[in-house]
Amino acid sequence: MRPLIRRWRRIGMRSIIVCASIHHGNTLKLAKAIAEILEARIAEPSEADPREIAEYDLAGFGSGIYYGRHHETILKFAERLPRVHGLPAFVFSTSGLPRIPLIHDYHKPLIEILEGKGFRVLGEFTCRGYSTHGPLRAFGGINRGRPDDRDLERARRFAEEILEKLEELRRSRS
Ligand SMILES: Cc1cc2nc3c(=O)[nH]c(=O)nc-3n(C[C@H](O)[C@H](O)[C@H](O)COP(=O)(O)O)c2cc1C
Repeated sequence: MRPLIRRWRRIGMRSIIVCASIHHGNTLKLAKAIAEILEARIAEPSEADPREIAEYDLAGFGSGIYYGRHHETILKFAERLPRVHGLPAFVFSTSGLPRIPLIHDYHKPLIEILEGKGFRVLGEFTCRGYSTHGPLRAFGGINRGRPDDRDLERARRFAEEILEKLEELRRSRS
């Protein structure tokens, strides 16, 4: 195990991942891969109280992308979060189509809510997810098999990068 992961576990960092994975359970696969590294609790929006998020050292928020944004249960959950002062957070998703900044920047609505509440968003991760939405169903859907093993490995690496950023933050504050 990498030293940084060991260190954060030793000091008892508490992480939570709030994840809505409605369509095919695609985003939950990412949540589980990320949670392996962070030893995070995974909760659906209905299972967590927004007020308790402030008790964690790190909070992740993710879902599939629905009509150009995160699932409404995640956005509503974020709107009910308390004001915090720089609590580290990250955002993730799976989607049918790639994220294109300015045109299809589907993380933006959630990030804006989180930053408006005082969260410090340390990173974002997305990959393709199997979709049979609408007429795609007739053709067997798109992105069959995604997220795949490679996506999950990238998600674990993303979680490690979040730990590296937390470490930098800790150093700059001490
Ligand atoms: C109702 C609906 C709307 C969707 N809208 C989008 C969209 O706007 N952009 C996109 O890239 N994918 C879209 N998708 C595809 C999903 O984001 C994709 O399948 C995702 O992996 C689902 O994640 P989940 O299984 O965790 O819910 C949509 C899927 C559904 C069912």
